[in-house]
Amino acid sequence: MTQNPLHKKNIILGVTGSIAAYKAADLASKLTQNGAIVNVILTDAAAKFISPLSFQSVTGQPAYISADLWGAEAHVLHIGLARKADALLIAPATANTLAKLARGGADDLLSLTALALGSGPDAPLLMIAPAMDAGMYSHAATQENVEILTRRGAVFIGPEEGHLASGLVAKGRMSEPIQILEHLRYQLSRSGPLKGCHITVTAGPTQEDIDPVRFLSNRSTGKQGYALAQAALDAGADVTLISGPTHLTPPAGTRLIHVRTAIEMQHATLSASKTADALIMTAAVADFRPAQPAEQKIKKAKGVLSLPLMQNPDILAAVNQQRATTLMPKILIGFAAETQSLTSNAEDKMRRKGLNLIVANDVSARDAGFAVDTNRVTLLYADGHQEELPLMSKLEIAAAVIERAIPLLNPQENV
Ligand code: C5P
Repeated sequence: MTQNPLHKKNIILGVTGSIAAYKAADLASKLTQNGAIVNVILTDAAAKFISPLSFQSVTGQPAYISADLWGAEAHVLHIGLARKADALLIAPATANTLAKLARGGADDLLSLTALALGSGPDAPLLMIAPAMDAGMYSHAATQENVEILTRRGAVFIGPEEGHLASGLVAKGRMSEPIQILEHLRYQLSRSGPLKGCHITVTAGPTQEDIDPVRFLSNRSTGKQGYALAQAALDAGADVTLISGPTHLTPPAGTRLIHVRTAIEMQHATLSASKTADALIMTAAVADFRPAQPAEQKIKKAKGVLSLPLMQNPDILAAVNQQRATTLMPKILIGFAAETQSLTSNAEDKMRRKGLNLIVANDVSARDAGFAVDTNRVTLLYADGHQEELPLMSKLEIAAAVIERAIPLLNPQENV
């Protein structure tokens, strides 16, 4: 199964002397919950804000301070840490640490380890989340250091505009731990089996206007589609997510295109499909739209309202037609939400829409389908074979679907 790229990764979390250091404990905890092995290095200033024990408690791994350099393991500590690291994440990173890294200083355990990681394309990822007071980040000296480090391949996240410890509101606030984690997840996924593949995913409902304030829609929340976007990113793909209105946050690294109506979704999907290797159509596209949306709000005094509807275009069928000339996307994956005759209805859809794979789910079950976190699906393939998956989280289903898509996209993986 394609996995969270943080799973079993050795992450060194460098924590430096900013008040945001307290948030680093949450970050260390989240990284650990995502399966990473987290070794923390605190600078002396960081250890004044938060103790190594806090980190040890949430990571189950040792947390180091510079004094450990002179302990029993002294001559190997920074080398040992650097050798097994998949990434060094410094959060929060102070202006002093940025300056030190930019000029190659090595006077404490963190900067020594950063230097021992090496530089160039084969060096482990260096990701930096700065935190400092207003004016310090925008200072020419800091900006030059950021530029030097970026040129050497470091990836920056933040800082964000917001409330600072000094009381000022400006750019200098450390990005939230969840954003840092998601960005690291994205960065570590880039060498996955779908590296270089472009996958377009559609998600959520569409809204079809009745008048300027009312619309027709459905109960889709977009959860399954957003989970597919995440799973495709985790496998290394470049992902375009075409989303109807939802309350969800798109996974870090997605190219997000917001749409509202089926017509807008068709337009965006046909355009993205020209360069997509795969289209995964999870969106619950409204089948009908009001034939003539009213220009003004319809008044209830008019009494019984009859609303003539017309059929929306079938987006998958249109993409299938377009690919006869563009030869893209190479594979088409659809979803079938059914309340009866699940597999025969899904099979019929697969043939009509020219799909390579259809994911069929019974939306009448309480633990599957709309607005719940779990789903129970059957996968039907164009060659006629079927695969029933047990009740799983939508993320697990997404990972299973992406796993099945890999050999379809890279036929050499089959041999
Ligand atoms: O025909 P039905 O809506 O059940 O088919 C489901 C599949 O077709 C889904 O993948 C859905 O995203 C896609 N679809 C579409 N255009 C429509 C309606 C559904 O591409 N107008």
